Amino acid sequence: MTDQNNPGSFGSARGLSQKIKKDKKRKSSSTRWIGRQLNDPYVLETQKRGYKSRAAFKLLQIDEKYKFLIPGRSVVDLGCAPGGWLQIASQKVNSLVGREKVVGVDLLPTDDIAGCVSILGDITDANIGDELIKILGCKPDIVLSDMAANTTGHRQTDHIRTTYLLEVALDFAIENLNKNGVFLAKCFKGGTEIDSLSLMKKHFSRVNHIKPDASRKESVEGYVIATGFNIE
Ligand SMILES: C[S@@+](CC[C@H](N)C(=O)[O-])C[C@H]1O[C@@H](n2cnc3c(N)ncnc32)[C@H](O)[C@@H]1O
Repeated sequence: MTDQNNPGSFGSARGLSQKIKKDKKRKSSSTRWIGRQLNDPYVLETQKRGYKSRAAFKLLQIDEKYKFLIPGRSVVDLGCAPGGWLQIASQKVNSLVGREKVVGVDLLPTDDIAGCVSILGDITDANIGDELIKILGCKPDIVLSDMAANTTGHRQTDHIRTTYLLEVALDFAIENLNKNGVFLAKCFKGGTEIDSLSLMKKHFSRVNHIKPDASRKESVEGYVIATGFNIE
């Protein structure tokens, strides 16, 4: 059942426990993945609500705590495919204006989402940032980044690659955000994120780490939210 005040929380789907039969033709990692999917209440709820991704719940839960997705605010979503975060952002910020104030970019195609414009592109390319701002038609109040590099299985390499994306997203945010803007990004803890965190502390009045309930406990994934952007 959905709590109307806390749409990122729900109770009845919990406590699932479906056993997966072993299959000699399947790798044990695949069996574990299938088991996780079938027993994950968020996967079930994602399908029920028609969200494009399970990640939608992470943004809902972070917004429940920080309440920054406010009607009328403009949003850029970096690494937006398949579109779960775009759906949530659009539902929250577009409700007053009837104007599309949410744009996203991804290396992969993104599903069509009402109230959003998304483009194919690599945020590390020099011109993509300007293109996003041109489409949005104004500076963003909020920059989101759920970007993750493809994992190699080597923990330190994955950390460095995802931290690089955090740096690129932060540079984009610092160059483009409106005063008092908000930056929310995926941030793997592991050491190399320290420089980005220092830069955030210099440019924003508050910086907090958050691991929403929907982010798997065993994952190194976490998020950082920086609010109160100060234009120098
Ligand atoms: C975890 S998924 C995002 C899920 C999304 N927040 C949602 O709710 O559906 C991370 C995305 O980052 C994208 N990505 C990784 N590197 C990128 C880059 N350099 N430029 C744009 N997108 C990138 C990947 O293609 C992937 O789709």
